[in-house]
Amino acid sequence: MRSLIDILELSTEEIDALIDTAQDMIARPEAYADACRGKILGTLFFEPSTRTRLSFTSAMMTLGGNVLGFSEAASSSASKGESVADTVRMVSAYSDIIAMRHPKEGAPLVAAEHATVPVINAGDGGHFHPTQTLTDLFTIKRKKGRLEHLTVGLCGDLKFGRTVHSLIAAMSRYADIRFVLISPEELKLPGYTRHEYLGEGKSSFSETTDLEAAMPELDILYMTRIQQERFAFHDDYLRLKDSYILTPEKLKNAKPDLCILHPLPRVNEISVAVDDDPRACYFEQAANGRYIRMALILKLLSEKDMPDQNKKSQKEISLDGAVCQNPRCITTTEQELPQRFRCVDREHGVYRCVYCDGRVYPKANEKA
Ligand code: CP
Repeated sequence: MRSLIDILELSTEEIDALIDTAQDMIARPEAYADACRGKILGTLFFEPSTRTRLSFTSAMMTLGGNVLGFSEAASSSASKGESVADTVRMVSAYSDIIAMRHPKEGAPLVAAEHATVPVINAGDGGHFHPTQTLTDLFTIKRKKGRLEHLTVGLCGDLKFGRTVHSLIAAMSRYADIRFVLISPEELKLPGYTRHEYLGEGKSSFSETTDLEAAMPELDILYMTRIQQERFAFHDDYLRLKDSYILTPEKLKNAKPDLCILHPLPRVNEISVAVDDDPRACYFEQAANGRYIRMALILKLLSEKDMPDQNKKSQKEISLDGAVCQNPRCITTTEQELPQRFRCVDREHGVYRCVYCDGRVYPKANEKA
C-alpha cells in the first residue's frame, strides 16, 4: 500500500501527472465531484495548522468524500499517553486515508508502518512536508510554465524550515536548477541536506546572508518564517526573528517576472505592502494546495491495493547501542520504538536514523 512520507517517494513523472490532474480538476471540477463518494479522510493534526488541514478537508469534500479527525493533540487520546501506532490502528478502522501532522520527526513514518490505510505526511517537526512541496511545484509550474532552468532563492530559516528541505530535495531532480541559500549563519541549511542534494554532480548552489545582493538573479524567491517553535532558547529566536523582511524597496532590482512564494503563515518576513505586487504569488500558492491535495488523495486511494514499489529500498542496519541524538525524533517520546539506521557513508561510518534522518557516527564514538 502506498503512503507519502517523503516527497522523493514520488518520481518526477508521478509529480508531473499529479500536476496535470490538479490542473484538470481546476478546469473540469464537475468531472471529479463524486470521485471519492463514500470515502473518509482522517485528519490527525497533533500540531496547529490552517492551510494544510483545511485544504485537505476542502479537497476531500470537493471530491464528494467525508472527513473526521482532530486539530490538536489535547483533544485526542495522545494526551492520555496513547502511542502514534495505536492511534493510527484505530483511525484506520474509521477512515480510508489519513493525513497526519506531528511535532516529532518520523511520526508519520511510524503511522504508515502501523496503519492499514495510506498515510500522508502533513508535516513532521522540522523534517518533511511533502504536500507543501507538491503545492510549491504546482504553483511554480503554473506561474513559470516549467520546473527546469530556474534560479531559486530560499530565504530565512533554512535550518528548521521543513518546506525548504522538501523543496530542495524535489527540485534538485530537475535540470539546470540553481539554488541561492539566503540565511543568517545560525540558520543555514543543515549539512546533510546540502551533502545529499547540492554540490558536485548535483544541483549548483551559493550561500549568502544578503537578500538584496541575491535579488537580481532570482526567478523564484521562496521566503520562510523563522520557526519560533523549533528553537531550544527563546533568546536566539528573538535575536534572529527580524533577519529578513521583504519590502517593495528590496524588490527594486528583482526581475519583472520574479515569482515570490511563501508556504505561510507569515509573521513579518513579507511586508503587507508587497501583497499588491503582481509578483506576490503566496496566496495563490496556498489556494493551489487544495487541488494538488485532491489529486494526491485520488492517486493514493486508487493505488491502495498496489504494492509500494517506490519505498526506499536501502537496507536497514542494526547498530549496537546507537541512539538517535535528534531531540525532535519520535524515538525520544515513543521509547518502545526500536532504534533503526541506514548507512549514508560507509567509509566515514555515517548512519542516519530511519525515522528522522538524524545522523549518528558510531565510529567517532568508538574513538572517543
Ligand atoms: N504551509 C503550511 O503548512 O501552513 P499551515 O501550518 O497553516 O498548515
